[in-house]
Amino acid sequence: MSGRRPFVAGNWKMHKTAGETGPFVADLAARLPDGPEVAVCVPFTSLAEAVRAAAGSQLRVYAQNMHQAAQGAFTGEISAAMLLDLGVHGVLLGHSERRQYFGETDAALAEKLAAADAAGLDVILAVGETEQQREAGETEQVLARQIADSGAASHAARLTIAYEPIWAIGTGRTATPALAEEAHRFIRGRFPAEISEVIRIQYGGSMKPDNAPELLAQPDIDGGLIGGASLEADAFLAIVAAAT
Ligand code: PGA
Repeated sequence: MSGRRPFVAGNWKMHKTAGETGPFVADLAARLPDGPEVAVCVPFTSLAEAVRAAAGSQLRVYAQNMHQAAQGAFTGEISAAMLLDLGVHGVLLGHSERRQYFGETDAALAEKLAAADAAGLDVILAVGETEQQREAGETEQVLARQIADSGAASHAARLTIAYEPIWAIGTGRTATPALAEEAHRFIRGRFPAEISEVIRIQYGGSMKPDNAPELLAQPDIDGGLIGGASLEADAFLAIVAAAT
């Protein structure tokens, strides 16, 4: 880490009902240390409850996806205005599960990023390579394309990048601190100098309380995007403490 404020976000994925969310978020909000920025990315159905339970605390509430259009005939979708209306602070975009299972493209992400920025939502944009791409030596090419094609540099003021090597997500196989740092440094270098110094880049992929300190000690790792370990308050708070 550097002069940049650490940022740790939990990605709940499709976990926790609205009923489970209230007490969980209230507990988390009450136990947050001063220092790092902390967010939870929760299912749409939990957003209102999470905002209510986090009110008056530092904890920020993010959605896990958003449609790029302001409104219209898009059955089952949610717009930026709908998120803002609930008091949501930001949105996670481009998670590999969205790219892999729901066909999310960099072109669609460019539109989503622009819509979120215009609406005033902060964004965590997830990027990362598959195991096959890493083995083929394509990691840098993939990361460069994901950053360039989503137009990330044009929306940097509201943006955090999450580097999530897909082979490390939910597998217990964390990238080594050196390998993660190398990717983070590469991603940072994709941005113009004035952005590159300030943009925060989280690491995601099996980050846990025991490996978080070493990862977070790397100069270009500014926080974490935490899946599994964010579903349990003690584990998530232990990672937040490591970033403090
Ligand atoms: P994980 O998930 O921490 O369970 O590996 C990270 C993510 O997918 O954001």
